[in-house]
Amino acid sequence: MPHMVFIERDGTRREVDAPAGLSVLEIAHKHDIDLEGACEGSLACATCHVIVDPEWAPKLASPTDDEEDMLDLAFGLEKTSRLGCQIVMTDALDGLVVRLPHTA
Ligand code: FES
Repeated sequence: MPHMVFIERDGTRREVDAPAGLSVLEIAHKHDIDLEGACEGSLACATCHVIVDPEWAPKLASPTDDEEDMLDLAFGLEKTSRLGCQIVMTDALDGLVVRLPHTA
């Protein structure tokens, strides 16, 4: 099964099982990672904001316009910011690293 790594707000690295087909938000919830996801993946909040490791960012599918619009509302936006509910795990993403923003 693929794995992925969350870097928590205090810098702790958490490597977790990341079943293909689940979103990064769903994976975070499965492992009690502090990623809110208030709208449960319906692109109506930005509380699932994560910052993708720059090495991994190009390997993800490009964000849709709707995701970009919602990301504009996120705090602490960075170049590789994405919405966790829109990143779907695949075998090719085994080892993916994302960081939680400092202010969410
Ligand atoms: S959970 Fe609301 S946009 Fe991702």
